[in-house]
Amino acid sequence: MYNINVEILKKILNCSIALEEKVSKVYLSLAKKVSELSAKVLLEIIAFESEKHALILREIANLLNLAFQSIDCREFLGALYIDLERVEYELHKKESLGLEELAKLLESLIIIENFAGEETYHKLLLPLIKDFISRDYFITMLIDKIVSDEKFHEKAIESIIHFSKTGTS
Ligand SMILES: [Fe+2]
Ligand SMILES: [Fe+2]
Repeated sequence: MYNINVEILKKILNCSIALEEKVSKVYLSLAKKVSELSAKVLLEIIAFESEKHALILREIANLLNLAFQSIDCREFLGALYIDLERVEYELHKKESLGLEELAKLLESLIIIENFAGEETYHKLLLPLIKDFISRDYFITMLIDKIVSDEKFHEKAIESIIHFSKTGTS
């Protein structure tokens, strides 16, 4: 395998960890500021699952000896990361969130959920990992688990947006 692919694999893996951690913090902060109980619960679950994804990916990085301590993911992830920082900034300014504001912020987050699911983990990350290792080490199973969670996140967020706009679930 070419060195350039190893570098890309390292970046995707480590920046996915950084992204999941940041996403998790954003969902937790959203959950704290929303008064609607059912939306709060769903947002908390997504936060915990994102934290779990960061943990799984970190274990994979350690297993493959590809863990990075310092890496500039802002540049690597570009608009995605900047969008997330913008949501963080908006959240920071507010004590509480109305349903309309919540829907607006979630519309930015759903783009990230979309990107972090099937596209990145299955189509990009997994093939690179498979090129890099001779044995699977159950990594396919773990990535499948993350991707199926991401599908749930997307659906859950769509439901909260729908609820925020119509008042019905
Ligand atoms: Fe995730
Ligand atoms: Fe997610």
